[in-house]
Amino acid sequence: MPTSPSTIRCKRGAGLGSVVVPGRGETELFTLSQSLRDEGTGTRLPSEHWLERYHQVRNQTMDLVATLTPEDQMVQSMPDASPTKWHLAHTTWFFETFVLAPHVTGYLPYDERYGFLFNSYYKRLGPHPSRTTRGTFSRPTLDEVWSYRTHVDNIIRDLLDQGASPEVFRLLELGLNHEQQHQELIITDIKHAFWVNPVRPSYQPGQSGTPVDVEPASMPLLAWFCFDGGLHHIGHDGSGFAFDNELPRHTVFIEPFCIASRLVTNQEYLAFIADGGYRRPELWLSDAWDHVCRNGWAAPLYWEQAGYGWTQFTCQGTVPLRPAEPVCHISFYEADAFARWAGMRLPTEFEWEIAASSLKNTGAAGLNLLESRTYHPRAGSRQTGLQQVFGDAWEWTSSPYTAYPGYRPPAGAEGEYNGKFMCNQMVLRGGSCATPRSHIRKSYRNFFPPHARWQFSGVRLAHDGTVE
Ligand SMILES: [Fe+2]
Repeated sequence: MPTSPSTIRCKRGAGLGSVVVPGRGETELFTLSQSLRDEGTGTRLPSEHWLERYHQVRNQTMDLVATLTPEDQMVQSMPDASPTKWHLAHTTWFFETFVLAPHVTGYLPYDERYGFLFNSYYKRLGPHPSRTTRGTFSRPTLDEVWSYRTHVDNIIRDLLDQGASPEVFRLLELGLNHEQQHQELIITDIKHAFWVNPVRPSYQPGQSGTPVDVEPASMPLLAWFCFDGGLHHIGHDGSGFAFDNELPRHTVFIEPFCIASRLVTNQEYLAFIADGGYRRPELWLSDAWDHVCRNGWAAPLYWEQAGYGWTQFTCQGTVPLRPAEPVCHISFYEADAFARWAGMRLPTEFEWEIAASSLKNTGAAGLNLLESRTYHPRAGSRQTGLQQVFGDAWEWTSSPYTAYPGYRPPAGAEGEYNGKFMCNQMVLRGGSCATPRSHIRKSYRNFFPPHARWQFSGVRLAHDGTVE
């Protein structure tokens, strides 16, 4: 049985950063985030499993930035977004701070300054720069950040080679899920940076044959799925990894409701715009209407009117707006106003989870997640089943991001991960085309302020009662 903390000789040298370990995520959706014990045998999973998983996630990050220049990776296009280089360094800092520093005897920081530079918001770890200044960090250079990643990867490998404690495995799992969150942010942030750039670069230059280029022959059908009222269990069910905000699992009382079989399409959203949706204050919450007026909103983010119709900016550049695709890059405010215009409402996060739990087949086949490399939501099919639940676009719910009954944040700085943000944000569910496959599940709670729209965020409608 290994002991903790472990003693590792810290040295720089040939790294594993470029070693490609075959990923297992292509066919598994909900099972890659393993618990600390194998659920079938009860035996502790070997270090090889964790090393493989570690390199799969870390290599996936580097794969995402492979087409970006050092200049691209410096840009911070708005305060909410971060430079790619910062994401690469911050995710490494997370492993160094939460795994290596407390669990490797005599561990010396790679660079004393990085503890300040790449701390995002963990007040209990000390001061950090204002997030609005991240685009000014021309030093360390991108090469130096790569060296930092390689250094930490090497020590993690050594730690696992020597055998590590269950607590190390737990923190490693947290760090990997943290890095996966930043993988999605790398995509959404560089998309915004390229949108702000007047020459409008493409994240995927020369890509073709993806759903962006393919308009389905007909619009996806809309059906309604209705659920009885009563008591329902909500929250993580205990198998596999979950963030603290998905717990405790608890019981809620739900009135009967119906939820749409698919996401709202661009064509449906165009009808809202054509009906004066952005000019009718009666459709908007007060704070939302102030936002519309103050910012001159008249369409979703990345939409523009050209001589021949609407276009949208995508990770493949500017393309004609595809009517059958899900509307995306809308705020909670816009999702809520659209639902009111349509005579419907947004689902609560509990209703969404109940509907997602009803899916018989939650396999990854056909889902449009990060590994699909579309980086764009895909039109639904003409099948009448519940679809687009996982992937494509995050779905705004009417639920404020608050603690579940009995929630307690973890002790120490780790407790700052989720709990302190439970104010002034709304819950989104289901993942997007930029969410890694092994990262999403039915109990997953994403959260953003109601005005945010640079994430891949869309809307699914709901209504009270049952279908006549
Ligand atoms: Fe982070």
